[in-house]
Amino acid sequence: MTVRLDKFISSALAVTRSEAHTLIRRGYVTLDGKAERDIGKKIDPEKNEVVCKNEKLTFSQFHYYMLNKPDGYICSTEDMRDPTIMELLPDNVKHHKVFPVGRLDKDTFGLVILTDNGELSHFLLSPKRHVEKEYYLETDIGMEPSDVEALKKGVDIGETKLTLPAVLNITDDPRCAYITICEGKFHQIKRMMQALGKKVVYLERVRFDNIPLDRSLERGEVRPLTEEEINSLLKNMA
Ligand code: URA
Repeated sequence: MTVRLDKFISSALAVTRSEAHTLIRRGYVTLDGKAERDIGKKIDPEKNEVVCKNEKLTFSQFHYYMLNKPDGYICSTEDMRDPTIMELLPDNVKHHKVFPVGRLDKDTFGLVILTDNGELSHFLLSPKRHVEKEYYLETDIGMEPSDVEALKKGVDIGETKLTLPAVLNITDDPRCAYITICEGKFHQIKRMMQALGKKVVYLERVRFDNIPLDRSLERGEVRPLTEEEINSLLKNMA
């Protein structure tokens, strides 16, 4: 894969194309040790070394982040009424035009994966893939062993079919539990609990596929996914 030098600089430094042009034309950029002033020069990110103001730059085709979503934000790139999670992202993350992989409700907390890799997002969200999502939840009244059984079999949330088998682990406090689901319908968990006569009063996503929520992230904070986390998502597509 090759990429134009201006695109490389713009992506690696999270600057606009025209800012990248200025840096290149003013001679701040070297390619394999020599000043390079051709903005359209084709670069092989695997082979060529690109340096700007003494900083060695790396280029990634796609970008991946984890957000610890607070409540009160819509999980979308724009909304007419409410603040969106995009407002929580620093400029260098927004620069990559990332979007959330799936949605959490406005009042749901926790793990949101963001990427600009549309193919991966599409793949992970496909109903055929059954990617696991785990949530911590609290309900208004205690959950019971019969709820565990009902969710294992599937419950009626008003769709054409029952929900797919879900795993409910009730904690020592029967109003608190962890639930793992492998589908993602609108208000899925709230509707599943409603079918069992309970109201969800707190909901937090704690895992997406093999990626747990990083507990060191404050609410509203975002960090890049590690190489290992990215590979664990991509291996699904291999
Ligand atoms: N299920 C819900 O009801 N809401 C969410 O935000 C996620 C799963």
